Amino acid sequence: MISQTLREARKYEEAAEKLISKEERPHFHLTPRAGWMNDPNGFCYYKGQYHLFYQYYPYESKWNSMHWGHAVSSDLLHWEYLPCALAPDEAYDRDGCFSGGAVALPDGRHLLMYTGVLKEHQERDIYREVQTQCVAVGDGIDYKKYEQNPVLDEKDIPKGSSRFDFRDPKIWKNADGTYSCVVGNRAAEGGGQILMYTSPDGFHWTFKSVLASNHDRFGKMWECPDFFELDGKWVLLTSPQDMLPQGYEYHNGNGTLCLIGDYDEESGAFKEEHNQSIDYGIDFYASQTLLSPDGRRIMIGWMQNWDSCNLRSPDEPWFGQMSLPRELFLKEGRLYQRPVRELEAMRHNKVEYKDVAVSGTVNLEGIQGRKVDMELKIRPEQGQDLYQKFAVRFAQDDTYHTSVSFRPHESILKIDRKFSGSRRAIIHQRRSLVNTTDGELKLRIILDRFSAEVFVNDGEQVLSATMYTEQEADGISFLTNGTARMDIVKYDLIDL
Ligand code: FRU
Repeated sequence: MISQTLREARKYEEAAEKLISKEERPHFHLTPRAGWMNDPNGFCYYKGQYHLFYQYYPYESKWNSMHWGHAVSSDLLHWEYLPCALAPDEAYDRDGCFSGGAVALPDGRHLLMYTGVLKEHQERDIYREVQTQCVAVGDGIDYKKYEQNPVLDEKDIPKGSSRFDFRDPKIWKNADGTYSCVVGNRAAEGGGQILMYTSPDGFHWTFKSVLASNHDRFGKMWECPDFFELDGKWVLLTSPQDMLPQGYEYHNGNGTLCLIGDYDEESGAFKEEHNQSIDYGIDFYASQTLLSPDGRRIMIGWMQNWDSCNLRSPDEPWFGQMSLPRELFLKEGRLYQRPVRELEAMRHNKVEYKDVAVSGTVNLEGIQGRKVDMELKIRPEQGQDLYQKFAVRFAQDDTYHTSVSFRPHESILKIDRKFSGSRRAIIHQRRSLVNTTDGELKLRIILDRFSAEVFVNDGEQVLSATMYTEQEADGISFLTNGTARMDIVKYDLIDL
């Protein structure tokens, strides 16, 4: 038996989806079936398919009482909607089913672990959300919430830590068949901390350790943690709120953080060696990973930032998109990302130019489009002064363009959607420090109608940004102050 709340959501989304044409959505980035989407949830491989759930409010393109939307895919690019999986319909999650993860149980059932939110009356008209961790089990379509929910509550957090900021469990199965999860929490001193729990069966949980603490360095509350082994190290991903900038590495507001180090299984403590942003663009938050059957660690994020949500009008039929799924690896102690290799099957209509001299503005025959995979290798012109600036403009017509520009003297790469058609006074540009030797740079730019994801130097950095420029603006051009040389390979990303 499913609840009335869930039944209504399913009925509503089925009808609302029909009112949105395919062309109004990205081609291979997941958007909500209807209404609002934020964080990816329960990203996992189950019964031969990739499952991706998401924070969801089907009724409007605005954040509201959270449900879990659901989609499946066999290649991480072509998604099929399944019925809404969770609705806020129990006494302990009445005010929202917040983010969480999923695993397959040994008996073949699918376990979802999520945050139940319940508003508690404080005084006069003041309410605060109490957050607890809950589970639900199902068959990949229908899920039943566990009778003994919540499975983790204020009894299970360290003394003085906040029960109002205790959310986003990411669960995984250990080699010995037991389970672990990491949960974001706010420590007594107000900063973020990541708590770790273990369980023999996924239902009964015990506190293990404070895995990592903010110590007032990276924002305040740490949301949406993920923790995994990668190339011989341990990686902790989280999305901090209320960040202050640090050089070009971290920016103000909601940001992303990757900590790389070692993990002491005995004590449950993480020993941090390196920190960096996950994405250096404008729109990326709340990342989550899975381990694919062939052993790849694949990450997806909400391609959005809470601070720039009003780029898109709430009157539009959908809001929020997922990033491209990205394969993660470590190189020289840093996190690297590359688009999932499944994308290669969608590359068609190859156009290639070698050693093009770019001075002033250059347009190249066959180089245009809004569903594009484009690789550029840029280098200085021999025997000439190093160029001042190289830029590629896309989603371009006489009125609009979005650009990625590079200043080799400063090693600064900028993504700029100021001229993308936005009418809001929000962030439209972001600069990042990149690695370059003598003005050489590699860029792989993926466009999918309403977004650009820029992979720099084979994945050393990524800059993601959404753009809602009208689709007719599909020009691409290249500009240099000075002269640069460029190799370019461009494909359309389409299904034949
Ligand atoms: C992050 C977040 C999570 C929370 C969810 C609510 O974007 O704030 O911490 O679970 O969104 O929708």
